[in-house]
Amino acid sequence: TLPRVYVTRQIPPEGLKILRESGKVQFELWDSDDISVPRKELLQRVRGVDGLLCVLTEKIDAELLDAAGPNLKVLSTMSVGFDHLSLDQLKKRGIRVGYTPEVLTDSVAELTVALLLTTSRRLVEATHEAKTGGWGTWRTLWLCGYELANSTVGILGLGRIGVAIAERLAPFKVKKFIYTDVAPRPELASIINAEYVSFDELAKQSDFLAVCCALTPETKEICNKNLFSKMKNTSIFINTSRGGVVNQEDLYQALSTGQIAAAGLDVTVPEPLPTNHPLFTLKNCVILPHIASASYTTRNAMSALAANNLLLGLQGEPMIKELKL
Ligand code: GLV
Ligand code: GLV
Repeated sequence: TLPRVYVTRQIPPEGLKILRESGKVQFELWDSDDISVPRKELLQRVRGVDGLLCVLTEKIDAELLDAAGPNLKVLSTMSVGFDHLSLDQLKKRGIRVGYTPEVLTDSVAELTVALLLTTSRRLVEATHEAKTGGWGTWRTLWLCGYELANSTVGILGLGRIGVAIAERLAPFKVKKFIYTDVAPRPELASIINAEYVSFDELAKQSDFLAVCCALTPETKEICNKNLFSKMKNTSIFINTSRGGVVNQEDLYQALSTGQIAAAGLDVTVPEPLPTNHPLFTLKNCVILPHIASASYTTRNAMSALAANNLLLGLQGEPMIKELKL
């Protein structure tokens, strides 16, 4: 009999088509994209499955793996991030894990540039003013922001996404790229001619600081008052990685006191961020609902890659993109 698989979301059509047409799995699906599967339902659905395809809203922890039981051999997440997975638990149980890096790099980099420009040039405020009667005469300093030309752009956590962002920003006449990471990454850095600096120097020198690191115990709330207090009051902070890398209270303080100029966030804690959250009251904070990889092309590619990883894993073959545990 065919391996049984549970898919925790109605994922984009390409991945479902691959699963369906493979003839190699029997799969059950949480048949909605608008609501995530309730935890209780999930714990029941995974019972006895051989494989699981999940998205980033599902916590894959000991409780869930216990509920699934010993048949579970393969987990495939339709995400590049893996902070929703208890890697220790997966490793301990010998469960192989697939994920979806690279296919989303272009989309995430494009959105990061869009968010950066939206924030630095105050586009959300500007459209609001235009629509609501705030547009008086043409004014000399009204809605002024900050430009990329001659700026220093800092990247916190240099991976493929950070490189892709810098490649897109370079034509805006950025003067200098700097980055920090746990160690220098000369091969990636050379692509964009970026200089390795300390965390403090990154804070001090960056006119635009883009966070591109994974959320791990080491990076949790690494962007806190220690960072913001060293930044220039003309600097822009952009986060398209995970909300957990930021201490949001410290960010609120930094933004509301003018310690930094503005922030653009695609990710928050929690998600969704409650509509009454203080960050929403700030004009100099642009918040997006975690859409960095949300292009049709990319979400279908992620769906297909997650499906192929799952099928390969179930056949005992190397996955296309497998996490080393
Ligand atoms: C999106 O945040 C992802 O991890 O793919
Ligand atoms: C993450 O996948 C990165 O490439 O930075």
